[in-house]
Amino acid sequence: MFHVLRGRATSVVIEARAGQAPAWRYWGPRLADGAMPEAAISDTQPLPSFSLDTDVPLTVFPLQGEGWFNQTALLAHRSGSDHVQAVTASQIERRGDALVITLTDEIAHIRVEQTFALDPDSDALTCTSRLTNTGNTPLDVQWFAAATLPLPAGTQAVRYFSGRHQGEFNEQVQTLTRSLWRRENRRGLTSHDCPPTGFAEASDGVHFGAHLAWSGNSVQQIEWLEDGRFLWQFGEWFAPGEVSLAPGEILNAPDVIATCSAAGRNGVMQNFHHAMRSRITWPGGTMKPRPVQINTWEGFYFKHDLAGMKALADEAARLGIERFVLDDGWFQGRDDDRTSLGDWWPDKTKYPDGLKPLADHVVSRGLEFGLWFEPEMINPDSDLARAHPDWIQTSPGRPDMTARNQLVLDLTKAGATDYLFQAMSALLKDLPVSYIKWDHNRDLVARGPRPVFRRQVQATYDLMARLRTAFPDVEIEACAGGGGRIDAGILAHTHRFWTSDNLDAISRLPMQRGFLSVFPPEVMGAHAGTAPAHGTRRTQSLDFRAAVALPGHFGVELDILKLGDKDKARLKDWIGLHKTLRPRLHQGSVWTGEAGDGVIWQAHGDAASLVIFVYRVTPTLQRHAPSIRLPMLAHDALYSVRRIDRTRTNKSSPFQEAVLSPEGHEISGAWLAASGLPLPQLMGESVAIYELAPRASAPSGASA
Ligand code: DGJ
Repeated sequence: MFHVLRGRATSVVIEARAGQAPAWRYWGPRLADGAMPEAAISDTQPLPSFSLDTDVPLTVFPLQGEGWFNQTALLAHRSGSDHVQAVTASQIERRGDALVITLTDEIAHIRVEQTFALDPDSDALTCTSRLTNTGNTPLDVQWFAAATLPLPAGTQAVRYFSGRHQGEFNEQVQTLTRSLWRRENRRGLTSHDCPPTGFAEASDGVHFGAHLAWSGNSVQQIEWLEDGRFLWQFGEWFAPGEVSLAPGEILNAPDVIATCSAAGRNGVMQNFHHAMRSRITWPGGTMKPRPVQINTWEGFYFKHDLAGMKALADEAARLGIERFVLDDGWFQGRDDDRTSLGDWWPDKTKYPDGLKPLADHVVSRGLEFGLWFEPEMINPDSDLARAHPDWIQTSPGRPDMTARNQLVLDLTKAGATDYLFQAMSALLKDLPVSYIKWDHNRDLVARGPRPVFRRQVQATYDLMARLRTAFPDVEIEACAGGGGRIDAGILAHTHRFWTSDNLDAISRLPMQRGFLSVFPPEVMGAHAGTAPAHGTRRTQSLDFRAAVALPGHFGVELDILKLGDKDKARLKDWIGLHKTLRPRLHQGSVWTGEAGDGVIWQAHGDAASLVIFVYRVTPTLQRHAPSIRLPMLAHDALYSVRRIDRTRTNKSSPFQEAVLSPEGHEISGAWLAASGLPLPQLMGESVAIYELAPRASAPSGASA
């Protein structure tokens, strides 16, 4: 019996097998109606020599006790017994767009429930798995796969991200071989260097992508199988002794969101955006236009004073900024990064009457007020640490290991989370705070007496949920030294990611491309920063810095009071342009591409209205600029092409002048798709932004 899930452009086929786990038969581009496996998998494969007499196919939950020699979906035991696991009974049931699978091992006393839901609109396959200890003794779990997926025979390579603080989304590509490919993140949070995302490309050009919705330790692995396919697994990485299930206890694995597309990287990205958008819970149920932000960090660091901050809010309002985020430095004794995390009340010297005078001033200027916290952290030099050393993650007999002078609160202690809830609530009640920037500036090391990694993540999610229930209008930004906690798990509780502490626009371009390969632009925090950039000491023009940040959730992170009038006016223009474009930037689809010769581009919207950003990263090495082909346009429509940025190119041409006119230049969608949009000869580190909208039907069969 075969079960088929049909998406918009993909299909899944799973074979039910009596008393055994269902087998993976297909995951790929949509099958024609009626296309079905010719026979059960066991009937199509002759037994190889020197093999078990029962061949074991790749199932949705492969187990070693069944004679499976590749990666297992479960490693567990009861003090050494019941380590042999095999499915003895299985059930598969259709519920809407999902298959619900129940697998039981009546000998090792475990039950696994899985769902595979294929969204018919987005082709996102969401996989959930939960394990129940049905025995009457504790079950120690070392590994529980959140999903086991098939990649087709001939899959060539895996693409993934490495990185570091100030260097997120550093794309890597590795050829897949017969050796196991495995990435383990043991840093306790999603991490800069090993986020739980992977992409694979099959030999026929079909692209696959998958992501684990989890903000903690993780494993991703790909292993070659004897039929040429590959097994692709995701799950949490557990520290020894971390998971022991009491009788009847359940272990829920994080969701895996997977997708595939015959439309290449852009297809996978668009499916991911759809899936991620459906996981965000906006205050009031729908996303309001993303407010343009000013963040105080790089402009002021720890140097806060009430008059200066008020003046900043006044200037921000004049430039059209809509949200003021007071970053680190506002709370008691926080004059540098050595003290005070945990002491969440306003610093008496900087804000003698608390934050209310500033917050009220900001709001009176028409801006929202946002406040920075780093709730999970504590400085040893803080009142909180002196009062509650028992709330700090420690390991008996071992020295503390600080990072940025800070230690980690053990959020599994109810007292610690209650304290944070109360301290944050007191501020949220007292002040017109509508936004929290929630930071987390260090990796977690193994601390005891029992490992708390996964429970710490869950406690953070719970604290966020508790605050959001109490303050439903508040949005949260997830930050961890920039992009150390960017994942779909925390996205269910938050509304923006801080992509990176590196504001250098040249560094940002590849990072943003990496970010966008999974997450939509409206949650990509992107700021125009100072020049030279604090992270790299490189300088780019204000136009370029603004234009690179423009497609995301746009903001400014510099001391705008120090800008000259010309730059202020320029920044105001960019903010105004962002506001006119944001409805299109933050809905619909995104495409990214490379035109060659140092030019990259990014398009937002749909065939009825497209905004295209063209960035020249390096100076040209060609006499003529490349064109960019735009296959997403309606081929039977005539488009008006208008260049809408205010930057200007050195040398122009009649065509480039025409696109600069208010009416723009007309070109057929078919021509733009096949031959492309001719670009101007841009200088290195500059931008051109275009708006394309259909005018009327193009004459068909035109021969001129
Ligand atoms: C790290 C963040 O990424 C920065 O934006 C800033 O909030 C600092 N922490 C503050 O300490």
